[in-house]
Parts: sequence; structure tokens; C-alpha cells
Amino acid sequence: MKRPALITGIVILAVAIIGVFVLIIRSPQTTSPATALAVSPITTTTPPTASSTTAYALTDVANHNTKTDCWFAVDGSVYNLTNYIETGFHKAGMDIVIKSCGTNAIQTFAQGHGKGRKAQRAYEALVPFVVGTLK
Ligand code: HEM
Repeated sequence: MKRPALITGIVILAVAIIGVFVLIIRSPQTTSPATALAVSPITTTTPPTASSTTAYALTDVANHNTKTDCWFAVDGSVYNLTNYIETGFHKAGMDIVIKSCGTNAIQTFAQGHGKGRKAQRAYEALVPFVVGTLK
């Protein structure tokens, strides 16, 4: 290979290596959803949209009022918290959650979690448990 061609090759290679390096440094971190949530800016504390569209009356919710069969309603969505209660983990203890089984817990839920990041994390944690909307 001639010398100018060699130099051109080295320069192209160097630029490519620097380019890849810059891309790696600037690319978003591949974090777990929970970590990504922790660093994401707060734009709203509106609950995420429920994925299930089955509509339940409050009387349906009221039929699930024990810790082994626990539903509650918050902000127009109905959640089955039975599996959540089974995990045994809630920052403020599980009794406070169990008390809300079978109820429209909009006020206690909102009061318990306040506003901002805490509320956002609590609403996000509800998402997997949605079973429908409140009629
Ligand atoms: C009506 C029932 C509930 C009440 C009254 C309540 C109340 C509370 C309270 C007082 C805290 C501690 C806040 C603090 O650190 O100052 C808390 C934390 C939390 N709750 Fe609840 N909670 C309820 C139900 C739930 C449910 C059903 C979930 C999720 C499925 C949930 C998710 C969370 C999370 C993720 C935190 C930690 C927030 C953080 O500090 O990042 N809560 N809750």
C-alpha cells in the first residue's frame, strides 16, 4: 500500500474509533425500567392509562375485600392487589393497603403517596395489577 493511502486509512480508522467511542458515551444508559423511572423527569403525576377496559361497578370491587382477594379502585381504574399483597412489600406496610381492599381508595392512595416522584412510583407500581375501569 502506498504511503498516502496508508495515512488515509489510518485517519478513517481513527475517526471511526472516535465516532464509536462518542456514540457509546452519549447513548442513553441501558438501565432497568425502575432505574430509568428514577432518573426520568417528572412531567405529571397522572396515573398511567389502564390497559384493561372491562368496566366494574363499585359493588363489584366491594366483593373483593379481603387480603387474599383484594381489589380497589383508584382514579377510575380497578386493580386486583391480591398478588401485590402476597409480595409482602410496601414501604408503609401492608396493613394500610389491606384496609383499602374493596373500596374506592382514591383519597387514601393520593394522601399516602403525596405528589411528585413518590406518587409517580406508586402509580407505576399499580400498572401490572389493573383489571378494568370503574363504571
Ligand atoms: C390505599 C392504599 C395505600 C396507602 C394508604 C398507601 C400509602 C403509602 C405510604 C404512606 C407510603 C410511604 C410514603 C413515604 O415514604 O412517605 C407509601 C409508599 C409507597 N407505596 Fe403505597 N399506599 C397504598 C397502596 C399502594 C399500592 C396498592 C401500591 C402499589 C401497587 C403502592 C405503592 C407504593 C410505593 C411504590 C411506595 C414507595 C414510594 C417511594 O417512596 O418511592 N401503594 N404508600
